Amino acid sequence: MSENRVIGSEHIEDARQRGRLIFEILPGDIVTSLARETAHRLGIELITGPIEKPTLARTDGKTSMGRSLYRRSPKWIAPDKGISSRAKRFSKISIVGAGGVGANISHLAANLDLSNEIAIVDIVPGLAAATALDLNHASGITRSSTKIVGSETLDLISGSDVVIVTAGRARSPGMTRSDLININKRVIQSTAEVIKNQSPSAIVIVITNPLDEMTMEMLTATGFPRERVLGMAGTLDSSRFRRSLAMAAGVKTADVEAITLGSHGDEMAPIISHSKIKGRSLERFLSTEEIEACSKDAISGGGQVVALKKMGSATIAPAHASIEILNHIRGAKNGSIPVSVMLEGEFGLNNVVLGVPAFLGLKGLISVEEIKLSPSELKALQNAAKAIQERLGLK
Ligand code: LAC
Repeated sequence: MSENRVIGSEHIEDARQRGRLIFEILPGDIVTSLARETAHRLGIELITGPIEKPTLARTDGKTSMGRSLYRRSPKWIAPDKGISSRAKRFSKISIVGAGGVGANISHLAANLDLSNEIAIVDIVPGLAAATALDLNHASGITRSSTKIVGSETLDLISGSDVVIVTAGRARSPGMTRSDLININKRVIQSTAEVIKNQSPSAIVIVITNPLDEMTMEMLTATGFPRERVLGMAGTLDSSRFRRSLAMAAGVKTADVEAITLGSHGDEMAPIISHSKIKGRSLERFLSTEEIEACSKDAISGGGQVVALKKMGSATIAPAHASIEILNHIRGAKNGSIPVSVMLEGEFGLNNVVLGVPAFLGLKGLISVEEIKLSPSELKALQNAAKAIQERLGLK
């Protein structure tokens, strides 16, 4: 015969923690009044047992074998894309432009402690220095050892491993990214001059819009090899596309792999043939119309933020997308990612900067991955190339 149990409030609390909503009282159990009170407070029903246990379902051998195989069949688990421990720490990252994107990149980079030093430059008096000081103040909590400095003069960027250029006008509602060409071209040219002199071996990441055109301008103005002039757009657009697909399919974003290539604008090309949900084709989860709607959502993502904000464009997702590029450069993440680079025959295209899948490393671009595209995707890439060249007056 089993001993009589004394049920105290701790038993009830324990049951609650395990997510139980009923507690079985067996004949002979002594329940303290505190336990009853606790059960009442926590909404646990005390039930006089023994409760009849459900009988085991009897099945024929074939059905039970099928069930056990089903249970053992591998479930989809999103691959863990953790940070490699062999990642290099940068010695100096410079960020030109301390607006929303620049400030958020500095914040994330400082928090991740991925550089010895971060230099922030902005022409607005005091802005870069204030951002740097503000970030330094957080280090008592974050324990980041990154030294952050800020100034109005571009000399501060000297000796950088990477220079990230966010400076320039952002879009206002109703403006397309390409409306900014002539305004931002001058900003790129003057910044390129300083980068060339002060950080001649840096990798430059361009974020200023219109992205592909400004990356091309940076390449010409610095005279750097294409390996060291990259444009950040595809990582951002792909993130938006993944999120949109995840929402439409009702899955986690971690379950979605998807990329966009082409331009960072209307000629963006979501690449359906290389996109997957839980490792399977999009069509297994979504209709053609739903996939089309997700593509449109990604293409208009930046514009949607501009329309809501009225002044300025997105800042947080672009900053994360920039960190993604830094992580690929320093070897913290593997595989190819969409980056805007000058094409030299890849995908049959030349003399144009375009978003393509690229392998990155400590010297910048390692190679463009010429993934197999469907005829319509290749056409979309060709159209994007043509539109960019036209906007730059090259065609
Ligand atoms: C965007 C801007 C940064 O897409 O181009 O949000």
